[in-house]
Order: sequence, then structure tokens, then C-alpha cells
Amino acid sequence: MDSNKRPETMARIQTKEQADAFIAEQVAAVREQVGNGKVLLALSGGVDSSVVAALLIKAIGKQLICVHVNHGLMRKGESEQVIEVFKKGLDANLVYVDASERFLTKLEGVCEPEKKRKIIGNEFIIVFDEEASKLTDVHFLAQGTIYPDILESDGVKAHHNVGGLPEEMAMELVEPVKLLYKDEVRVVGKALGLPASMVDRQPFPGPGLGVRCLGAITRDRLHALREADAILREEFDNCGLATKVWQYFIAVPDFKSVGVKDGKRYEGWPAIIRAVNTVDAMTATIEEIPYHVLHRITDRITHEVDGINRVLLDLTPKPIGTIEWE
Ligand code: XMP
Repeated sequence: MDSNKRPETMARIQTKEQADAFIAEQVAAVREQVGNGKVLLALSGGVDSSVVAALLIKAIGKQLICVHVNHGLMRKGESEQVIEVFKKGLDANLVYVDASERFLTKLEGVCEPEKKRKIIGNEFIIVFDEEASKLTDVHFLAQGTIYPDILESDGVKAHHNVGGLPEEMAMELVEPVKLLYKDEVRVVGKALGLPASMVDRQPFPGPGLGVRCLGAITRDRLHALREADAILREEFDNCGLATKVWQYFIAVPDFKSVGVKDGKRYEGWPAIIRAVNTVDAMTATIEEIPYHVLHRITDRITHEVDGINRVLLDLTPKPIGTIEWE
């Protein structure tokens, strides 16, 4: 039987009982596969790698070594949440690497989107590899591969996740959720006790805020973007849009406009709001955000975020726009 093919008889996991049965099955399978061996996992804090981490901690505890690389392009509070949930909550064997400075230095002056992606992807591999080489006797590499990744791997998908690791890392793969769809991964994550804020997260591109800090990334503009994005997310949470909209974020372009603050000229960047709905990310429609919510977000961002003096709304569907700006 092809282990990468989902059996037709496999029921869709929807309930806690189904998830518990799946977890028990995978815990046994992982123990059988790795024995006393050590397993390495790049834990980004995204849904898939988080669920794999929680599952493997249940199966093999400290034999799992999670490496969380903070590339400096995370959303506000994300790395902190990974540490909180996994190190403090689940007592994971977690290596936290703050590589922000390295990534931001490498990205200095680079405007071209694909070049930015490449630098981020390559640097990630270098940092992860460095951490892996400090460890001895690790023969297994866990990955948060899910079924759509397998289905799309021979197709057209152009994006690769940060965390796509080099083949020279000659380790045997452990991929406990590779036959699951995203909705099932979320059900399993909840059954494992992961917080909803982690399990129900909207998709976030591997290169993170790097593709939303448009053009050449600067530290001050990246900071403004992160703060504005946090406000958007907070306001979407408050008005119930967070659970309704597929993906929503702020992009900040690298130009300024003239504004006025406290009676003085105030040049700042615009923050662009984008909120889209889609089924497969190939096409997308725009969420109609109520005006009172838009006013509140605008008011907060322009008053609370240094460097931003306007808020714009992107009404472009995909196609013709892509979901991300870069
Ligand atoms: P686009 O911008 O192509 O995005 O309409 C479609 C979906 O893919 C996400 N995206 C990425 N994900 N690495 C990723 O892992 C990337 O380089 C990347 N670029 C876009 C985007 O956020 C959206 O959900």
C-alpha cells in the first residue's frame, strides 16, 4: 500500500473521539518507528508543526527536540506563544534561536520579492542546520506535512514553506499528520489540548512579515507593520471577524505621505488592510468589513503606531491581485 495515499475507507476526523483514536494510533506508530531514537522538528508555531510537536511530545516526550527559529519576521507575540505553550505548558525539549539580526542584516537593501523569499528560505536552512549539527545521534526528522502538501507536490504550487529542509539532512522522516486535511489537523490539535489561538490560526506565509514589509525591509517599518497587524488582529477578534475571515493582515509599503500631527507636518507610511476569503487560495474574494470597524482600526493604528499616518483598504480580488502583496 502506498503510505502517501489516504485510504478511501478513512473517515474524516471531526469529533474529539475520532481525534483521540487517531492520536492513540499515531502515538503507537511513532513509538514503533523511532524506538529510543531522537527526533528533530522545526517548530514554527504554525498549526501543522505545532500539532506534530504536541503529538510527538505525547508519544516520546523528551526524545523530541523542537527547534524554533525566530527569523525576526514573526507576528507580534508569536515566538513568545511557542515558548509559553511548548516549553512552559508541555515541558518540551525546545531550542529557541533568536536569529532576527542575522535575517534582517541579510535582507538589508533587498527589494525584489523572490530574492527576499530566497534569502529567508536559505538562511532558515543554514540556521536550522547549525542547530542540528550541535546535536548528536539524531536520526529522525519530524515534519508537519499534511495531505494537501502531498497532493500538491506534483502539481502547480509555487510556494514553499520556510522549513523546506535540504535532502542532505539524511534523516528518516516522521510525518504523523501527512494523511490529514487541515480541518482534521485542527480537531486533533484541540484534542491534544493546544490553545484555540494556535490551532485556529489563519494561514501565515513562511517568509512571514517579510513579504508584507514591501520593498527593502527596514527595522522601523517592520516594527510599525507588526504593531499595526497586532491591532488589526485584536479588532477582528473583538468584532467576531477573526473566526469568519480566511486571511487578514496589514502590508506597509516603502513610501511616505504627508500628514499632520499635533499641528506639525508628519510624514508616515500608509498601512494597507487586506481581508480575504477563499477555499483553496487560488482565487479569493474580499471580506466586507463594516465601516465602524474600519474607522476604529484606522483611529487606533494612526494614533498608536509610530510612523503610520494613513490607513488604506485593499478591495482587490484574486485574480487580479494575489493575496499577498509580494
Ligand atoms: P498568494 O499571495 O500567492 O498567496 O495569492 C496564496 C496563499 O499562500 C500564502 N503565501 C505563502 N506561503 N510561503 C508560504 O508558505 C510563501 O512564500 C508564500 N507566499 C504566499 C499566502 O499567505 C496565501 O495564504
